[in-house]
Amino acid sequence: MKKTASCILCSLMIQLTVIADNNRVLYKDSSAPIEKRIQDLVSRMSLNEKIQQLNQYVLGENTNANNLGEAVSTIPAGIGSLIYFESNPVLRNEIQKKAMKESRLGIPVLFGYDIIHGFRTIYPISLAQACSWNPGLVEQACGVAAREGSMAGVDWTFSPMIDIARDSRWGRVSEGYGEDPYANGVFGAASVKGYQGKNLSDPYSIAACLKHFVGYGESEGGRDYHYSDVSAQSLWETYLPPYEACIKAGAATLMSSFNDISGIPGSANPYTLTTILKQQWKHDGFVISDWNAVDQLINQGFAANKKEAACKAFMAGVEMDMTDNDYADFLPQLIAEKKVPMERVNDAVSRILRIKFRLGLFEHPYTPEASESERLLLPQSIEIARKLAEESIVLLKNEKQLLPITSRYKRVALIGPMAKDKENLLGAWQAHGQVNDVESIFEGLEKEWKSNIELDYAKGCDFEGDNESDFKEALTAAQNSDIILVCLGEKGNWSGENASRSTIALPSIQEKLVSELKRTGKPIVLILSNGRPLELIRLRSQVDAIVEIWQPGVAGGASLAGILSGRINPSGKLAITFPLTTGQIPVYYNMRQSARLKEGFYQDIPTEPAYWFGHGLSYTTFTYGNLKLSATKIKKNEKLIAEVEVQNTGAMDGKETVLWFISDPVASITRPMKELKFFEKKELKAGQKSIFRMEIDPMRDLSFPDSNGLRHLEAGDFYLTIGNQKAKFELVD
Ligand code: GLC
Repeated sequence: MKKTASCILCSLMIQLTVIADNNRVLYKDSSAPIEKRIQDLVSRMSLNEKIQQLNQYVLGENTNANNLGEAVSTIPAGIGSLIYFESNPVLRNEIQKKAMKESRLGIPVLFGYDIIHGFRTIYPISLAQACSWNPGLVEQACGVAAREGSMAGVDWTFSPMIDIARDSRWGRVSEGYGEDPYANGVFGAASVKGYQGKNLSDPYSIAACLKHFVGYGESEGGRDYHYSDVSAQSLWETYLPPYEACIKAGAATLMSSFNDISGIPGSANPYTLTTILKQQWKHDGFVISDWNAVDQLINQGFAANKKEAACKAFMAGVEMDMTDNDYADFLPQLIAEKKVPMERVNDAVSRILRIKFRLGLFEHPYTPEASESERLLLPQSIEIARKLAEESIVLLKNEKQLLPITSRYKRVALIGPMAKDKENLLGAWQAHGQVNDVESIFEGLEKEWKSNIELDYAKGCDFEGDNESDFKEALTAAQNSDIILVCLGEKGNWSGENASRSTIALPSIQEKLVSELKRTGKPIVLILSNGRPLELIRLRSQVDAIVEIWQPGVAGGASLAGILSGRINPSGKLAITFPLTTGQIPVYYNMRQSARLKEGFYQDIPTEPAYWFGHGLSYTTFTYGNLKLSATKIKKNEKLIAEVEVQNTGAMDGKETVLWFISDPVASITRPMKELKFFEKKELKAGQKSIFRMEIDPMRDLSFPDSNGLRHLEAGDFYLTIGNQKAKFELVD
């Protein structure tokens, strides 16, 4: 039938109206309130479209060794999220175009990735970062990671990991900020701010993801993925505080943990995931499961099959399912059978859309395709990595001020498997870090000393095994030198995920090398690169100095060289206790007092650890004045000011961290012998004095939670401890 002009005009008008309407649909209107946009979009979504938002698959070459070969489904246009393994935005933008143009409602995909301690500019592992006691620098480093990640196409990092761990046989102790809840909260919050910036929609901001919620560090025997027996009291006073601090800092998302929390697994635990996180803390972002953690509920004996696993995880409060497809496969049936109500589905979808809207993905779904040189390894980024590495290094021992190595030494023997190593200085979770980006210890010292000090290198031994054939060369180098630097430690994959070890001692071949070198009678400096505290009971008596460099990242060699030469004064302090032997585990500073003060010690070894939390030496001396309190008695609604004057009484400029601990010797629930409540790090020039101050807020600093999370503030005596001083004050009703 011939179309009249008026019909053609009419259909054109209709099309134009539809286009106009489409552009005016509320959820696409960036000037509308996000909550209105969410409501509008959810009201338009089909059930299938909603369920697709609740799933995450993988895009690009899956390089995560612990999940290799995991088959993942092909990628539907309406997928909620993808783990993005590429280091440039091209593939991401291709998939995003498919989502924006081929899916009915054009909902952008959220691209996530494990940016744990750097994207391409790899800086120190988190455990090392905590030893810097410099959260501002950690925030800067996370800002570098966010910029590199966002320019590569990543919107969301699965970081920070804030799992308290006191069993260093557990490889993931390297990924958190040590043994203390307060420190994990401060460094976790700094990381959140570094990643998320001032606004999630800012160009280089990426969403943070607190993990692994919760109690994962309590994995029995340090065996990863295993049962964790977490009492309700420990949950509230040890494992939850860092999460609460980071949620107050605005963390957009969380990741539920693998571990079984005293019978209710972290990825299907309504108490933690909904009662605490959503109802008490009012978190309005979303929770993603860990990789296949929904499916693993079957292994844990908490679900009989995938369908039950999907139901339990989703109803407990896990909004997004990482990679095992259980939500996609079984939520439709569960909804049809009324086992999953639509309001839960709509709430879950709304939480995910809320983060996508806040990130600005609807307005800016694509990543500008800049060149690598504009995106990665910028000089200022490497500078931040170097500064953080320098401040993370801990001088554990320095007999007779052997260090720094000045021009009094002409020949230095540089020995050990770590001396020229690059790869292992990156540590676990290397993301897109590359071995050639790393400056080795040898390279750093060569640059530092140039021809002033001669470096004589010998490998000495491998990381492990029993091959002593390189000992001879090492001994020759040692005998021809004035001082020995022996560089030992762990391979990067000896810590991190699925890296449990039965002992925290180094392989015996490394210890044997030191014993052989000791026979030369030359002074020995032990340099350690590792992802966990190490057993030093045999080593520490054989060496004159010990420098803990952790896994420092790209600037490893440069940062250590600055310390050894004295150009940089070491300022790191341990954020985790070093047990004397594996047998002492668990040993941590904030333990409770035992029932008997003079009994209950080991019969076969000393009971004191090798080095306590907070230990770290300097090349200068800091003298503390008398601790002063603004009062010795305060009411619950009053504040107490504590001050101490610290002077750099040495000849070298340095940085000092003052750690403020509170003790509550008598309470209705026993308290740890002391708890870190505040810390501050300052630079003090030689001779300079400075006042360090803490304002004690009774409800914040003197109260404690019970097993229901209710805080108790009880009158009585308290002590404030800094350094070797302890001041008593009383809290009255
Ligand atoms: C891993 C880890 C988790 C990581 C996730 C995605 O198994 O447990 O920390 O973020 O899978 O790679």
